[in-house]
Amino acid sequence: MDKFVIEGGRPLKGVVQVGGAKNAALPILAATLLAEGKCRFRNVPDLRDIKTLLRILQELGAEIGRGEDGTLEIEMVYERNVTATYELVSKMRASFCVLGPLLARRGQARVSLPGGCVIGNRPIDLHLKGLRALGAEIEVRHGYVESRCKRLKGGEVYLGGHSGSTVLGTANVMMAATLAEGETTIVNAACEPEIQDLAGFLVKMGGKIEGAGSSQMRITGVERLQGVEYSVIPDRVEAGTFLVAGAITGGDVTVRGASSEHLSAVIDILKEVGVSLEKTDDGIRVKGPSTLKAVDVTTLPYPGFPTDIQAQLMVLLSVANGISVITEKIYPDRFMHVAELNRLGAQIRKEGPSAIVLGVKGLSGAPVMASDLRASAALVLAGLRAKGTTEVHRVYHIDRGYERIEERLESLGARIRREEE
Ligand code: EPZ
Repeated sequence: MDKFVIEGGRPLKGVVQVGGAKNAALPILAATLLAEGKCRFRNVPDLRDIKTLLRILQELGAEIGRGEDGTLEIEMVYERNVTATYELVSKMRASFCVLGPLLARRGQARVSLPGGCVIGNRPIDLHLKGLRALGAEIEVRHGYVESRCKRLKGGEVYLGGHSGSTVLGTANVMMAATLAEGETTIVNAACEPEIQDLAGFLVKMGGKIEGAGSSQMRITGVERLQGVEYSVIPDRVEAGTFLVAGAITGGDVTVRGASSEHLSAVIDILKEVGVSLEKTDDGIRVKGPSTLKAVDVTTLPYPGFPTDIQAQLMVLLSVANGISVITEKIYPDRFMHVAELNRLGAQIRKEGPSAIVLGVKGLSGAPVMASDLRASAALVLAGLRAKGTTEVHRVYHIDRGYERIEERLESLGARIRREEE
C-alpha cells in the first residue's frame, strides 16, 4: 500500500489539465453492452475504477483494446454470460449499472448487490423500481439481483428518493429504455452533466432521448444501437479539487478543461469565500486570497453544490475566518474526513447531517488516514496547506478517481511524493 508524503505551505502555480470524467465514463462504458459493433473512446481516464469496470465487461464478453491513437476500443463479441460477480461489483458500486443494459440486450442479468459503502447507506431500490416499470421480473437471491424479461416495454417511472433523484439509477433505467419497445418517461430524472454525457453517447449510437439534463426525460426505444466513437466530458470533480488546491495554497493555477457551466455552484461558493476566479479560453484560473471568509453550504443534486466536492471545500473553510456550516443532503454520514482534518489542527464538529467548521489560523502536518476517494483528496489538500510534513496513508482510494495526482500537483510546485508503506 502506498502513502503520500507532503511538505506543505507552498503556493501552487501553473497550468494543470483536467482528465476525462470518471463518473461519466463508467456508465458510458457500461452502455457498450447495448451496442452492435466496435465503440471507440477518447478521454477515458486511466483509473482503478475504470479498470474494474473493464474487467467486468471482459467477463461479460467484451474484447478490449487500444487504437493506434491511444483510443480505448470495446466490442461485445460474446453475449452469453449475464453474471457480474460479487468479487468485482463489491469493489465498486458503479458496476451495478451493467444491470440495465444487460437486461435490455440479453433479456437476463445476474448482478451482485454492491454491498456496504464507507460514505453511508446507498440503496438500489430506485434502480429496481425503474427496471420493474419497464416490465423486468426481478428477485434478490443469495446476494444477487436476478432479473429477466422478454423484451422490455416502455413505461412511466418516478425516480425521486429521499435525497432527490438517483444518478446511476437514472443511467440504468435510461440505458434499458433505449432498447425497450415503445416510449419511457423518467420523471425526477437526475440532471447531472454525467447523465447528459451518457445521453449524448446513446443518441450517437442511434438512441432516441429527449430532455436529458432536465428532470423529465423521454426515451423512445429502438431495435438496435451501433458502435460509435465518443469523447468523454472533463471531470468536474477533479477540476473542483484543483480549484480548491489553488485557492487553499494562496496560489495561481489555471485548470485547463474545467467547465464553468458544470461548476457554477462551486464557483459561486468559492467567490463567496473570497477566492478570485476568472474564466479563460480553455478553463478557469484561480488565485488564492490571503484571507478566506466563512460560508454556509448545503450539498444538493445538480445544479446544487456537489457532495463529491464537500470534503475538499471543508478543508478550505477549516482555515477561513469565522464559522461555516456544511450540511450534507445526499449522504448525511459522508464526514469520515472530519476526524482526520482535526488531527491536522482543524476544529470541526459533526452535528447530525451537518459539520460546524470553526476556522483556524493554520494547519499543522501529521499522519492521517484516507477513508474514501473524496476524503483522500481533501486530506491531500489539507497537507498542501499545512505547515510541516503530512503523511496520507492508504492512498489507493485516491487512485480510484484521480490519475497520477501527485505528479500533477508536483508540476504545480507542490512537494509531494508517493512512498510504499
Ligand atoms: C453517483 O453515485 C456518483 N457515482 C457518486 O460519486 C456521487 O456522490 C453520487 O452520484 C451523488 O452525486 C458515480 O457516478 C459512479 P445516487 P450514485 O444514486 O448514482 C439515494 C464519487 O466520489 N438512493 O445519485 O450511486 C442515495 O442513498 C462517487 O465519485 C436511494 O435512496 O448516487 C443517495 O442519498 C461517490 N435509492 C441519493 O439517492 C436508490 O436506489 C443519491 O444517490 C439509489 C440512491
